[in-house]
Amino acid sequence: MLAIIGGTGLTRLKNLQITHRQVIRTPYGEPSGALTFGEINGHQVVFLARHGYGHTIPPHEINYRANIWALAEQKIKRVVSVCTVGGIRDDLPPGALAVPDQIIDYTYGRKHTFFEGGDKPVTHIDFTEPYCPKLRARILRAAKLSHQPIVDGGCYGATQGPRLETAAEIRRIAQDGGDMVGMTGMPEAALAREAGLSYAAVAVVSNWAAGRGDSAHQVDLAAAEGVFHEAIEHVHRVLEALVKVDGD
Ligand code: HPA
Repeated sequence: MLAIIGGTGLTRLKNLQITHRQVIRTPYGEPSGALTFGEINGHQVVFLARHGYGHTIPPHEINYRANIWALAEQKIKRVVSVCTVGGIRDDLPPGALAVPDQIIDYTYGRKHTFFEGGDKPVTHIDFTEPYCPKLRARILRAAKLSHQPIVDGGCYGATQGPRLETAAEIRRIAQDGGDMVGMTGMPEAALAREAGLSYAAVAVVSNWAAGRGDSAHQVDLAAAEGVFHEAIEHVHRVLEALVKVDGD
C-alpha cells in the first residue's frame, strides 16, 4: 500500500474515499494526526497530514519519527511526500513540480534517527541516493500518464525554518548545489530509509527562493499561497495516476 504525506496546503486528498482513521501511538510520541485509510479509484492509500489536519505544527516541531514509525508499523512499503519549496534553479519557477533526487540537510536540533540510546546498536544507513529511484521513476511515469509537466531531479536543501532564508543563505545553498529549498525534507527522508521504507517526494514550487526572481527583495507569501493552490491541482492528478501505477 502507498502512503502519502501531505505538506502545506494538502491536508486532505481529493477523491479519497475514506474507509477509516486510525490513531497510532508510537514509542516516539504522537504522529501529526490519525492515519486516514481509504481508496482512490479502487486503489488503497493511507494519508497523513504532516503539519496536522488543522495545519498547526510548524516544520521544526513535527514529530518526524512518530510519523514514519506509524506508517512503518502499518506495514506500508512506499511513502510519497508532497512538500512545498522555494525555487532556486532557473527551471524551477513558482508553479513547477519536481521530483528531487538529492538532499543537503541544513536542519539542526531535530530528532533525526531511530538509532540512539544505549540499547540500540550503532547503525549507519546508506544514504547515497536519499530518494528511492524506483519510486521516483513511478512518480515520473504517473506525471507523464497524467500529462503533468514535472522536473526530473534536483537537489533539495532542507532548512530549519520556520523563517524563510536570507538571500545570502540561498546563494550559499545554490553554491552547494541546492536547486530548491524547503523545511520538511529532513529528517523525514533519512528516517524513512532507517525504517526500510521506499521514499520519494513531489516538490511543489510555491515561490522563488529569497533573492531570486521576483523574490529579489522579499518573498511574497500571499502570492505563494495562490500559486500553490493552483499547482496542487496538478499534484492531485499526478497522485491519482500514481496510485494506479503503484497498483499495477
Ligand atoms: N524556503 C523554505 N521553504 C519553503 C519555501 C522557501 O522559500 N517556499 C516553500 N517552502
